[in-house]
Amino acid sequence: MSNQSIVDTAKANYMGNYSQFPIAIKSGRGTILTDEDGKEYLDFVAGIAVNALGYGDEDERKALLSVIDSGVLHTSNLYYNSHAVHAAAMLNELAGSSEVFFCNSGAEANEAALKMARKYGSGRGKSEIISFHHSFHGRTYGAVTVTGQEKYHKGFAPMLPSVVYAEYNDLDSVRALASERTAAIIVEPLQGEGGIIPADREFLSGLREIADSLDAILIFDEVQCGMGRTGKPFCFQHYGVKPDIMTLAKALGGGLPMGAAVAFGKAAGIFSPGDHAATFGGNAAAAALAEVVLSKLPKLAAQADANGRYLGEQLDGIVADFPDLCVEARGMGLMRGIELKVPPRDVISACMEKGLLVCSAGYTVLRFVPPLIVSKEDIDKAVAIVRSALSASGAEEGKDAT
Ligand SMILES: Cc1ncc(COP(=O)(O)O)c(C=O)c1O
Repeated sequence: MSNQSIVDTAKANYMGNYSQFPIAIKSGRGTILTDEDGKEYLDFVAGIAVNALGYGDEDERKALLSVIDSGVLHTSNLYYNSHAVHAAAMLNELAGSSEVFFCNSGAEANEAALKMARKYGSGRGKSEIISFHHSFHGRTYGAVTVTGQEKYHKGFAPMLPSVVYAEYNDLDSVRALASERTAAIIVEPLQGEGGIIPADREFLSGLREIADSLDAILIFDEVQCGMGRTGKPFCFQHYGVKPDIMTLAKALGGGLPMGAAVAFGKAAGIFSPGDHAATFGGNAAAAALAEVVLSKLPKLAAQADANGRYLGEQLDGIVADFPDLCVEARGMGLMRGIELKVPPRDVISACMEKGLLVCSAGYTVLRFVPPLIVSKEDIDKAVAIVRSALSASGAEEGKDAT
């Protein structure tokens, strides 16, 4: 097999909903991926913030093999399986939450959270949901409706009713929309796809106050920023503000599809039998990997904190040295980005050519979301490649644009 033969087969058979780079990944070890032509890449994408443990993790391998050896990959939710039950208990312990619903993706986790919020509000005359501009919550109808970016709605009207959009980090814009009809506020504590934009401390605590004063449900979407990525097990723990529901996915299943809606306080007990379900939710194979990831979460978060600070310093250095191309570096832990003055695709292609995988967030942000096991040496290599890609794109290092 070659990259080209796989790309050709994909073009002949896939729907046209992706704009993919012309390589096919064959294998991986640690933070290195190898494509079908044998070329190696240092991976700062991690399957878009999924592969926290990198590639070839021995504990993941053993956990998955033990499920395979049991002969039962899937049980349905008519019965319990020990892996999902343990994973739920570990999640509640780490997050300080009380109930977990497992599903298969971030969008599904948000659908569950939205349904919980609407059900909580249904006896209270509340159905309106406040979301934010530049947010991203997934592609199913509910999740894409609360995604506050026009480009994701275009061509798919009508969206879900009773959803309104406020400005991120602007409490006045929330107060202007909040009312007794507000059932929920859904927010990413660190916006990912919208361009790596962290919430201010006062903003999240203000949202908590607004939700409390209206008896509304506060939903934190931690699908991308959760699971250790920002330097704590969950991003809300940086802020000391607890949501009523937290949604997770991406890194949770250690590379297998898994999402979760996690309930705290007043959100516990909303769902009764029959209210919601997912055939594959809590699938034994995915849950066995979740047990591995969750058992390592405190250590992974500490690594993300230390190495994330180092990455942040290096990215600030890049911004200072390439003022013609860079606006600023933002982010927390190992979820970071550089806002560029140009669309990032050419820089991404140049990095790929030089053996580094990076991706974009929004229209102008170059995003860095490596496996959480990344080392300082990996970061140094990645930063050197980004610098050389930026130099090759014509910007002169150290020259101020103004
Ligand atoms: C914050 C956030 N929420 C939800 C989603 C949707 O997750 P999924 O693609 O697993 O449905 C994403 C995906 O990037 C995300 O970043």
